[in-house]
Amino acid sequence: MIRTPEALIPYILAVAAVLGGTAWHLGDRTGGLGRTVVIGEARIGGPFALTDQDGKVYTDKNLRGHWTLLYFGYTHCPDVCPLTLQLMGDVMDRLGAKAARVTPLFITVDPARDTPGVMKQYVAVFGKQFVGLTGSEAQIAPVLKEFRVYAKKRPVAGGDYAMDHSGSIYLLDPTGKFAGTYEEVDGPEKIAADLKDRL
Ligand code: NI
Repeated sequence: MIRTPEALIPYILAVAAVLGGTAWHLGDRTGGLGRTVVIGEARIGGPFALTDQDGKVYTDKNLRGHWTLLYFGYTHCPDVCPLTLQLMGDVMDRLGAKAARVTPLFITVDPARDTPGVMKQYVAVFGKQFVGLTGSEAQIAPVLKEFRVYAKKRPVAGGDYAMDHSGSIYLLDPTGKFAGTYEEVDGPEKIAADLKDRL
């Protein structure tokens, strides 16, 4: 599993470079967390249509009207995904009444195994507000691309496989636009404080 705290940043920068001369800079808009990545006009995110844990269609339009803490991972992940989702749950707990204005969202990078039913059981563990999204491989792949998520299948012993994937938590504003990233190492207290300031 690739999960160094800064794992996403070089990838984003590489993508920005590939996009060809796109202006980018690393900015500190997070009041001390210092890991918000601003990439000129390069967009993170975009339109999508996936399926939630209840089998209902969930699109980018569902991102409007509330802040979103978005994490990409998979339910078979042995360690980092559950820890990060637990952290997101801790952040939600610390927001108190303001938690109503935030949706914790988990999108699978392993749609073959993460059916809506599997997602439903899984996200319920981390909190009532959690939404888990899956879809076909053809639906998930462009979403990963839009959000610059690295995810790659890796065979493991016994004919099974794991997914190497980037591990940042994305913050989306109430228009659904990318507003920055948090990392697990930031811890729930700092993330909740930063989020409260924005809400
Ligand atoms: Ni994981």
